[in-house]
Amino acid sequence: MELISRMMDGSIPYDPEGRLESVSSGPGTRQEDKIERLKEVRLFEECSQRQLRSIARIARIFDVAAGTVLTRAGEPGDEFFLIIDGTARAEVSAEKQVLLHPGEFFGEMSILDGGPRSATVVADTPVRLLVISRRHFSVLLRDAPGLVQTLLVTLSRRVRQAEERAERLGPAATGL
Ligand code: CMP
Repeated sequence: MELISRMMDGSIPYDPEGRLESVSSGPGTRQEDKIERLKEVRLFEECSQRQLRSIARIARIFDVAAGTVLTRAGEPGDEFFLIIDGTARAEVSAEKQVLLHPGEFFGEMSILDGGPRSATVVADTPVRLLVISRRHFSVLLRDAPGLVQTLLVTLSRRVRQAEERAERLGPAATGL
C-alpha cells in the first residue's frame, strides 16, 4: 500500500524515516490556515468561501522530502494529489519522465477508473501536497468548479502523449 494511503487511514502515524509529515491536519491546526493555503491554488480560484471550507474539510496537506515515492506503477491507488509547492517527477516509461509543478495534479487515473497506478511518481524536490482520498473525490469535483474541465483536458493530453509514444516505439511497446 502506498505510504500516503497508510498515513491517510491512520495505520501509520508518520513515516518511520521521518520523510513524510502531515501538516495542517493535526489537532492544533486551524481550518482557516488550510483555507488560506487553498486560496493560493489556481484550480480553486473560482471557489466561494463555502466551497473552500468544504474542500478544507476533506483535504490533507503533507510535506514530503525529495525522493519520496508517491505512487508506484502497477499498484492500486486511493489518493488524488495536487502539488502546492515543489516539483514531482512522473516516470511514465523507461525513456520518458514528466516534471509536475505547483498547480498540477496526479493520481487522477486510478481514482477515476479504479485501475492500478499508470506511472511511478517521485518527489523531485521537497514537495507540499494536497491529498484527497477516493471517498472524498466526488466532494472535490462538486466544490471545485474548474476541476472537471481541467481534468478532462489534462487526461486528453496524457492519453495523446501515451499514444504518440506507443506509435514511436512500435509494436514492441504495446505487446501487439
Ligand atoms: P495514476 O495512474 O493514478 O498514478 C500515476 C499518475 O501519473 C497518473 O495517475 C497520472 O496522474 C500521472 N501520469 C500518467 N501519465 C502521465 C503523463 N504522460 N504525464 C504526466 N503525468 C502522468
